Amino acid sequence: MNSLVDLNDFSLDEIEKILEKAFEIKNCPERFKNAMEGKILATLFFEPSTRTQFSFQTAMYRLGGHTIGFSNSLNSSVSKGEDLKDTIKIVSGYADIIVIRHPLEGAAMLASLFSSCSVVNAGDGGHLHPTQTLTDIFTILEYKRQLFNLTIGVCGDLKYSRTVNSLVEFLNRFKDNKFVLISNEDFKLSGALKENIEKKGNTFIESSSLKDSIKDLDVLYMTRMQKERFEQNQNKKEDLILLNEEILKFAKSDLAIMHPLPRTKEIDSLVDKDKRAIYFDQALNGVYVRMALILYLLEEEKEKKEMKEKKEFVCENKNCITKTEQYLPKYFREDENGVFCEYCGKMVN
Ligand code: NCD
Repeated sequence: MNSLVDLNDFSLDEIEKILEKAFEIKNCPERFKNAMEGKILATLFFEPSTRTQFSFQTAMYRLGGHTIGFSNSLNSSVSKGEDLKDTIKIVSGYADIIVIRHPLEGAAMLASLFSSCSVVNAGDGGHLHPTQTLTDIFTILEYKRQLFNLTIGVCGDLKYSRTVNSLVEFLNRFKDNKFVLISNEDFKLSGALKENIEKKGNTFIESSSLKDSIKDLDVLYMTRMQKERFEQNQNKKEDLILLNEEILKFAKSDLAIMHPLPRTKEIDSLVDKDKRAIYFDQALNGVYVRMALILYLLEEEKEKKEMKEKKEFVCENKNCITKTEQYLPKYFREDENGVFCEYCGKMVN
């Protein structure tokens, strides 16, 4: 039984296989229309979603399967006080694959521990969003034909955006990539990720001006401000960095402008008609990629990740799933850089 919680648990060969399948499906979706006949996919969405949830549902229907689920946990027994482990145990008895989105970091990993069926992380708080990343790299490959030697601008909320975390981490597995990190002071990319970029021999520069940075970019990945992740307790200054036709005049003629969507105001809608704006194609690609992922998880054999309990450590991240679900085994990973919580990925002090 396979799950996708973090793309780092997948080798590049495995990811290549999924993407190849996605291209095959995009070329001829008809061929796969009965591939998942009789199978059930459950969507457990504890946070709002349009694209991710609907594209998973569409993917399963297009493969001939069925879907169950909720998009508001008030409609589930969680609202009666059921813990996440019990919900997962029950639903995994009904379905063949669970797709979970949750505001806490590590929720998808929890699900993979207690589920008797495959689990897919559809976003765990500000942590990761691996299926968006698969969609993003599929789209980059479609337009750029390569994932190395690219200058990639990521712009907007680089601190709280899980799509940015996942994408930068993934593209950092390839050689000669240069990251241009465009944000305001309060929304910079995490120090740990910046260190990882340097460790891999890639480079980054930080900038607060899209106009000054856009000319060198092959890919520009815009993001919205993740207000739901910082507004509760902090008063952050969020001057919007805006992409408009004026700024686009300074860009390369083959720039790929991407956005995981939803957009708020960071891309002027007049940009939509520019042929370099590919964010709506990107969203559509999410269906083919998720079809390929479902097939991969339910049809291929993959080794399970080994983890050992380390009771001497405590995760201090207040957004970690271990804070609310206290029965969880104490899983930590140790390497030359320190000790990291396996659930939320944060370093333990
Ligand atoms: C993203 C998400 O949920 O993280 N949306 C998506 O899945 N396409 C980006 C966002 O909400 O800003």
